[in-house]
Amino acid sequence: MCGIVGYAGKNEARLVLLEGLKRLEYRGYDSAGIAILGDGIIVKKAVGKIRELESKIDGVNLSGNLGIAHTRWATHGQPSEANAHPHSDCTGKIWVVHNGIIENYQTLKKWLEERGHVFKSETDTEVVPHLLEEFYEGSITKALQRVVKMLQGAYGLAVLHQDEPQKLIAVRYGSPLVIGLGDGETIVASDVSAIIRYTKQVIYLNDGEIAEINSSGLKILDFDFNEINREAQKIEWDVSQAEKNGFSHFMLKEIFEQPKTISDSIRGRLVIKDGKVKLGGLDNVIDKIRSIEKIIIVGCGTARNAGSIGEYMLEEYAGVATEVEYASEFRYRKPVLDNKTAIIAISQSGETADTLAAVKEGKEKNILTLGVVNVVGSTIARTTDAGVYNHIGPEISVASTKAFTSQVAILALITILFGRQRNLSLAVGKRIEEELLILPDKIESITRQSEKIKKIAEKYCHFNNFIYLGRKYNQPVAAEGALKLKEISYIHTEGLPTGEMKHGSISLIDKNFPCLCIAPQDSVYEKNVSNIEEIKARSGKVIAITTEGNDQLNKLVDDVIFIPKTLEMLTPILSVIPLQLFAYHVAALRGCDIDKPRNLAKSVTVE
Ligand code: M6R
Repeated sequence: MCGIVGYAGKNEARLVLLEGLKRLEYRGYDSAGIAILGDGIIVKKAVGKIRELESKIDGVNLSGNLGIAHTRWATHGQPSEANAHPHSDCTGKIWVVHNGIIENYQTLKKWLEERGHVFKSETDTEVVPHLLEEFYEGSITKALQRVVKMLQGAYGLAVLHQDEPQKLIAVRYGSPLVIGLGDGETIVASDVSAIIRYTKQVIYLNDGEIAEINSSGLKILDFDFNEINREAQKIEWDVSQAEKNGFSHFMLKEIFEQPKTISDSIRGRLVIKDGKVKLGGLDNVIDKIRSIEKIIIVGCGTARNAGSIGEYMLEEYAGVATEVEYASEFRYRKPVLDNKTAIIAISQSGETADTLAAVKEGKEKNILTLGVVNVVGSTIARTTDAGVYNHIGPEISVASTKAFTSQVAILALITILFGRQRNLSLAVGKRIEEELLILPDKIESITRQSEKIKKIAEKYCHFNNFIYLGRKYNQPVAAEGALKLKEISYIHTEGLPTGEMKHGSISLIDKNFPCLCIAPQDSVYEKNVSNIEEIKARSGKVIAITTEGNDQLNKLVDDVIFIPKTLEMLTPILSVIPLQLFAYHVAALRGCDIDKPRNLAKSVTVE
């Protein structure tokens, strides 16, 4: 949600911190702040994006080799300078940046106020520096070890004390923190994108660990003062993957990356001659998978939409009963689970609090938990029993695109794995794999239509309502296309199963309420055409997505976008691309801040 970065080293902290904040800005962008420890502590904050903070500190002497910084996504209190991090105690010597939520902050605040502490913000975070002040006896590490035992909720914290000018402390409990080990410098951040420019050697903190950092390295301690030894890991992607490379937005770049990211997701995983797949991350549970009779897929937003496509695939091709649940609801249900049930948690970031809570619920019930996760070493990746990584590099745009298509491709691989253990034939397994291999070229033939889709977007960008419709494998694509448009353009959009429309929503249809109908030539094509006729009979405008060579729809609808033919189960990987491009162009034409839509953040680490 929020982004944290801290620096201790030989260079000017300010430069590394600002660069880090820019890399983390996709995590939250309503306000930002920085504290540098040089000759005393200097703190600057600004409401808005990082560039506002930069202009505020332009010309200010912010020299020092130790510092912390933060980009905020508001949870408690409006975006304002007072609520922006870092926050401090009454003496102004202790400064803290925080990602997560302190759930018991009201009780702690009341207790602190009774002891004379004066609060300057409405945030939950501010209790932390005041508690540190209360327990400080010459060592900020020891004070923190006491304070963390009083906190409930989730937190990643970085802390400075003016009287300990060589030391930066970080602690993790439920919100990710990673430490980069550079040459004479150490950087702590809420994700590796803030670190990658300086070093590829990183250590991921686990929950319940404190890192004591100075320029020559770090010491990791648990909450009971025991020292922990941890080997550094090498990050596999490089800095250019986190840059726009000439595209106007990360979202557009990531849409265009999809031929490559689909190849990367399946590379080395197909054993075509046997119609089988090799998913190394599932090797340790392969026998357990054989006994699974029911799958529950959990995820949020785009990840859940991908999961709904997985549901169709797993039931049709693997013959395993599958249901998809909103991760945020899973723990409020009483799902019937037994040792023949598995959870598949889908998450690009691997940090989504609701998805993680569902995984933990599954673990609590002792059932097999599998992950489909992009960010290596993320919490969900480490919490699940086994899993498959997407390998698509960093997804920076808040609107998820390449993660979605990769998740669907990985679910196809998982379907083959489950299916071949059951009744799926070698021939069908092989057929799916052969088709997956040629998808990248087919995706490219759609991204080449970007200008044509932009022209269609020009015709429709002034409408304030849309319905997206799809059936069977493309029903979740309708939901995903609608999510994309509403998320970045702020247009009210609904995604519905095509057949549902006549049960109520059709009353909305008139010439000002366009429909986007996904109608490839598949097993439900004729039914989709009948529904399109119903919309046209009510003067509704229709944009249709259909298969290349199908000229039947030209006469019926207002605009058509063509996608290449593929297996029905894989059509979502193609049919979603025009929807991503349509959403992008509409949002661009409406002048929206595409990579950082209002009120949102890339990774939602609060419940
Ligand atoms: O990181 P995750 O995949 O767990 O994130 C889940 C959702 O928050 C995410 O897909 C969200 O819906 C996207 N912003 C949609 O574009």
